[in-house]
Amino acid sequence: MLLFILIFSSLFYSLYSFNYQTVEHWRYLRQEQPTYTPSKLSSYFGYSLAIHRSSVLIGAPRDHSPYDTITRRGAVWKCKFQSDGQCQRLPFRRDGEANVRVGTSFDNKTDQWLGASLAANNDNIIAGSPFLKHRINDGHSLEYEIPGGATIGKYDRSLAMTDSTTIYSPSFLNWHSRNYNQEGYGEFGFQVALSKRPERIIISAPGSFYFRGGIHSLPILEHNWIDTRHPFIAPHYPWREVGWLRYPTNYSANEYDDWCYRGYAVAVGNFNEDDNQEIVVSIPKLHNYRGAVEIMNSNLDENSIRTLNGTQIGEYFGASLCVIDINNDGLDDLLVGAPLYTVKKDGRILPDAGRVDIYYQTSEHNLIKKQTIEGTREGGRLGHALANLGDIDKDGYNDVAISIPFINSGSSSMVHIYRGSKDGLILKPSQILQTTSLNGFGWALQGQFDYDNNGYLDLAVSSVRTETVAIILSRPVLHVQTKLQHNSPSIPLNCTLHSDNSCFLLTVCIYLNEQNYQYSKSDTLTYELQLDKDKNPADQRLFFRESFKSIKKRHFKMSDRICHDYSLYMKDDVNDKLKPIRLQINYVLSSKLDANIVPSILDPTNSTFDYNIPIQKDCGYDDICIPNLHLTTSNWPDIYKIGLTKKILLNINVTNTGENAYDTKCLIQLPVGVEYVNSNTSSKVNLYCNLMKQSDRIIICHLGNPFLANGNIAIQIHTAVNNYSAIQTDPLIFLINVTSDNPDSKIITTDIILPVSSSPELVFIGVAKPEQIALDSTDNNVIKHTNDLEIVHTYTLHNKGPSDAKRTEVKLMWPMLPISGFNDQQPLLYGIHLPSIIRVSDPKAKIDRCHIYQSTINHVPSMDNAGINHRSQESSIPSYCHGPLCKSFICYIDTLPIGHSVLIQLKAILRLNQFQSKFDRSKPFLIMSNASAQVREIPLKISSNKSTTQAIVYLKVCFYPKRTHI
Ligand SMILES: *[C@@H]1O[C@H](CO)[C@@H](O)[C@H](O)[C@H]1NC(C)=O
Ligand SMILES: *[C@@H]1O[C@H](CO)[C@@H](O)[C@H](O)[C@H]1NC(C)=O
Ligand SMILES: *[C@@H]1O[C@H](CO)[C@@H](O)[C@H](O)[C@H]1NC(C)=O
Ligand SMILES: *[C@@H]1O[C@H](CO)[C@@H](O)[C@H](O)[C@H]1NC(C)=O
Repeated sequence: MLLFILIFSSLFYSLYSFNYQTVEHWRYLRQEQPTYTPSKLSSYFGYSLAIHRSSVLIGAPRDHSPYDTITRRGAVWKCKFQSDGQCQRLPFRRDGEANVRVGTSFDNKTDQWLGASLAANNDNIIAGSPFLKHRINDGHSLEYEIPGGATIGKYDRSLAMTDSTTIYSPSFLNWHSRNYNQEGYGEFGFQVALSKRPERIIISAPGSFYFRGGIHSLPILEHNWIDTRHPFIAPHYPWREVGWLRYPTNYSANEYDDWCYRGYAVAVGNFNEDDNQEIVVSIPKLHNYRGAVEIMNSNLDENSIRTLNGTQIGEYFGASLCVIDINNDGLDDLLVGAPLYTVKKDGRILPDAGRVDIYYQTSEHNLIKKQTIEGTREGGRLGHALANLGDIDKDGYNDVAISIPFINSGSSSMVHIYRGSKDGLILKPSQILQTTSLNGFGWALQGQFDYDNNGYLDLAVSSVRTETVAIILSRPVLHVQTKLQHNSPSIPLNCTLHSDNSCFLLTVCIYLNEQNYQYSKSDTLTYELQLDKDKNPADQRLFFRESFKSIKKRHFKMSDRICHDYSLYMKDDVNDKLKPIRLQINYVLSSKLDANIVPSILDPTNSTFDYNIPIQKDCGYDDICIPNLHLTTSNWPDIYKIGLTKKILLNINVTNTGENAYDTKCLIQLPVGVEYVNSNTSSKVNLYCNLMKQSDRIIICHLGNPFLANGNIAIQIHTAVNNYSAIQTDPLIFLINVTSDNPDSKIITTDIILPVSSSPELVFIGVAKPEQIALDSTDNNVIKHTNDLEIVHTYTLHNKGPSDAKRTEVKLMWPMLPISGFNDQQPLLYGIHLPSIIRVSDPKAKIDRCHIYQSTINHVPSMDNAGINHRSQESSIPSYCHGPLCKSFICYIDTLPIGHSVLIQLKAILRLNQFQSKFDRSKPFLIMSNASAQVREIPLKISSNKSTTQAIVYLKVCFYPKRTHI
């Protein structure tokens, strides 16, 4: 294990605080005597931790006592629970002696690292000293080998030695051959553990055989081998005779696993069907530095080995191990730390952030990796140390500590506490322990001891760099149990302020069920009872009679059980009569600080209590209302004629043939362009209709809460089209639905469809000027004053509405020849002008315009084939112009508002001379023009049918017989 240079930072925070004490209440253990050396070398106090009966054991492998003849022998310190801060070196009797000499060989304990590893049970304490050296003299030369050793002593309750110390050290097989490559650098004692069943010592030696490492399982012996059997002649120790087991027993020539460090960490746990504990050994550099963990039977049977593999090269898989039953299924689970794991997350690469894999044992004794915790801090080395804390909050599940000792080079190290549960570890830390004053805090962890004897398990966390062990005590967890009683199963709506005081009585009883809790006179429990928690203050439905409020705060002294009575009432007219009323009670425990007692803490899962009170609903025995709503509609008018009226009336009828419908609403969505005016009802029910907030198109009508069984309501919604150009659709669609708040209630939907009619009606009136000409039928010279006569035909186009005409097309035809009795090809009319358009009532500049539509239209079939075609296409061309030739025009009239007119004038010259000479004078003669108008565009976004109108104008030319009497 590596140590780092001290760097200090003042970062500090503590996120959660359940149920260990927060940093200001921690206690600290340090060596009784300061480390003696002028150079102040660190003793590495806190390098390893263990618990023995009523003491914390703290390894300090570089410790040196000024009175010791051996330099830096290393030490195990014991700190008794009851004598805070009082720590002293633990005596290992034999180990107190100086270098052991046997014949010409001796062991050298200088720098042996006693206390580099520690394990303890009720009787024994074992401390590893992996750098214990053997000096061997074979008569030719003097050599040292470093197989390491482990020292075990028996102690009673007072930590006085009751029996001799035994020092274990492995044998030198073939020591003659200077087997440095065998046990020579074995580092035996690098890790130690005690297995309960069989009762044996597990000692690892990761340096054996070129650091392939190995694991030893030994019985606890009564005699001291180092003294009694230390002939360096034979194998160092007769390990076979005493049942000393080792794995591997033979090293192959295959060097694939040189430097793999088997035995870097060890643990014991039950991982198969028998009762014996298995041995878990990590090999962090196996498989090309990916690492592995091996689980083997207590007899180190090679065939029993199961392997868990690491995944990332160099992650140091198995640097730490922890056996714990997380989910309380009676089966041990396994945590494997990989503190040098590089986390790659969200595009970031965090070298040495670390990771912990969590394997769960199935009932078939398979280990399934189900969870992983990854570090989030570069170099933090999450998983450097792991600890089974036991059940610190007494919830029935063991809890876990995971250290991250090197965040910011150790200046903001943390220990995360995770809770066990039925489903495994809860991956959000329940508490984060952090201090800036202990650099590298979290080097070693030790749980499962009750330092203050309050029934709750405490935690020791070491910081080797500051030679300090922090003792972090658990606070007793107080469970509050709440019971509510009320005099009626649901609260009646008529239980209002004006009704009987006893119409709803609530009793709140609080029980404290923690036997270990010592009622302190200064402890106060406070609760806050909030009625109708789900509603905001304005919508509160339930109140305390005594205060007219919906919240009540109460302080009281602790006792086993306490009950409070409250009389409650409902608001007069509540909206939500369906949703139960949620009560919430929040507890706060306040206790006066007492240096000798760790204050209790409320179980956070029980410090809030929720309860629902239903509202009486009048819905049969089951109190579940199933409404049956029906919706019918009618409307006026049937067709919406734009301009004719603004009003549209919707009639909506809702009936309920089922049980009460709560908070029943009718929603009406108006089409664009239609505005809400008001609403009324002919029924006796109260009706509230309004436009919904943030909408000017959705009307919401409240039909009742409840809308009673067998209820019926006829709603009239008045709407209007105030600006028909806003209409965007034809037909207008009104969407209507009815909803109620009852559970599972369906939405009932219908719609009203209203076709839109929008064509303006045009009227054409034509006037001829002159209207009539009389000619003498005998005398060619009756009209002598002129040969040419100007004739004017004027059409008045009037828009009767209902809407404006945005663009109107007018087609006009002027005859060029008379209708009948005329065979000459000479035109009858000449000087024909383009029609002129005159605005009478609306003289604003308009872009009205006319042009020749077709220079001539020949209506004589034999004369022009093209004309025939044209005629058949233009069936609307009136027949009045069915003389041989017509001249036709087309005019476009810009916007013609309702009630406005426009005049279209045709002008031409009639050649009277010619005319008179060529006609059959026995009949009158007509000169007819005609005009037709069609609205091409109306000021609406929707298309619509267009009407056509037409008019004829004629000038009558009459011939009279000569009047002889003149
Ligand atoms: C013991 O080992 C140390 C080195 O670890 C060495 O300095 C010392 O001389 C040795 N003592 C004896 C007596 O050989
Ligand atoms: C572990 O890895 C080794 C080497 O890659 C492989 O041979 C072995 O099957 C793996 N074991 C498991 C349990 O995955
Ligand atoms: C605490 O609350 C949990 C639910 O959050 C409940 O299951 C448990 O019974 C409560 N314990 C006590 C002691 O009231
Ligand atoms: C509430 O109404 C019920 C009938 O629905 C009646 O029996 C009861 O007496 C009323 N309670 C009060 C407090 O008015």
